[in-house]
Amino acid sequence: MSADRLTVFDTTLRDGEQAPGFSLRIDEKLKLAHQLTALGVDVIEAGFPIASDADAEAVRMVSTHVHGPVVAALARCNPKDIERAAWALSPAPRRRIHVFLATSDLHLERKLRMTREDCLRAAMAAVRLARQFTDDVQFSAEDATRSDPDFLWRIIEAVIQSGAKTINLPDTVGYSTPDEIKDFFTAIINRVPSSDQVTFSTHCHDDLGLAVANSLAAVTAGVRQVECTINGIGERAGNASLEEIVMATRVREDRLPYRTSINTREIYAASQLLTALTGEGVQANKAIVGRNAFAHEAGIHQDGMLKDRRTYEIMRPEEVGVPQATLVLGKHSGRHAVQRRCEQIGYALERRDLDQVYRAVIAHADREKVVSDRDLAQIVARTLGTTAPAPAAPAPAAPAQDFGATPAEFGYGHGV
Ligand code: KIV
Ligand code: ZN
Repeated sequence: MSADRLTVFDTTLRDGEQAPGFSLRIDEKLKLAHQLTALGVDVIEAGFPIASDADAEAVRMVSTHVHGPVVAALARCNPKDIERAAWALSPAPRRRIHVFLATSDLHLERKLRMTREDCLRAAMAAVRLARQFTDDVQFSAEDATRSDPDFLWRIIEAVIQSGAKTINLPDTVGYSTPDEIKDFFTAIINRVPSSDQVTFSTHCHDDLGLAVANSLAAVTAGVRQVECTINGIGERAGNASLEEIVMATRVREDRLPYRTSINTREIYAASQLLTALTGEGVQANKAIVGRNAFAHEAGIHQDGMLKDRRTYEIMRPEEVGVPQATLVLGKHSGRHAVQRRCEQIGYALERRDLDQVYRAVIAHADREKVVSDRDLAQIVARTLGTTAPAPAAPAPAAPAQDFGATPAEFGYGHGV
């Protein structure tokens, strides 16, 4: 049986860019949109054209120059927003107008001062108007997961009848839990009479660190579009991270049998481009794309990696475009990692010499935290009293396949 296909809707350029510190110029958005195309996303949400002239221009530039993915633009449920979105999208060969309106009583009463009936009418009218510009109309019920389920299914049925093709039910404030969101989508899909005529979509925020888990739980309930961003950037704690959702379905295909069109080897390049453009790095321990995601410092782990990389690696770094795994020399490193790295930078050490160098490496790491290749070369020269010049530039780390060849004995750093 072939795996079900998930549509990857990337909102890095809209919801991601909305977050403080992440705003992008038009040329930068275009650059990123080209990389998202190389990555293979199905839909690029390029912006919110009514928000500013620059946002409208960015959507228009992406629509003009980026071919392949559907280009989407966000609009509130009013004619001005929708007409502006339609103008910005008009050069795109494949375009989607994405209209949204809050459906929770909290948002309706306190933020929008609208009744449920006003909301229903505005949503239907917006979808009908958007359909005059394109057949591909998405409706999002903002704060869906905190909305009254009876009202929600009524409005969903109404917008389907008005012409919406995708129904997105965001967990706008990241409040849901995985079992809850699964039940939520299961109930909606069972209850809405015309649910089989549309694609359901999940859009999760990460306020409780559950955005990816919630997105995957929604998929198991029948949702077939996931909305996500590179590096998980987005409002407040961010959105569900594209790379984590995609790699979860790759690595755990046994539990999550879903296909995407993503070329995973472009993931790291997309992550790096985004951090270069915004100047905002990702945390070192960020899954898939963080600096430490494929780094091993602890002696026991390095030993395992040297013997068989599957001991501590569930995916190959090359699969996501990371050049190779690295054995980081630090105070937790073991003798064999030090020996391997010495060999890589051109020093084949006798056992006695290795003992001395190893002790010096650990002492250095206690002071400096990590030991670079340049530090290591200096330690070797100093410890052994040689005049061997330090390499001019750091030597590359071991190619990934080198982890298979293993020294028999192994000594551990004092921290393991
Ligand atoms: O989080 C949210 O509810 C949104 C909608 C506008 C789709 O970003
Ligand atoms: Zn959002």
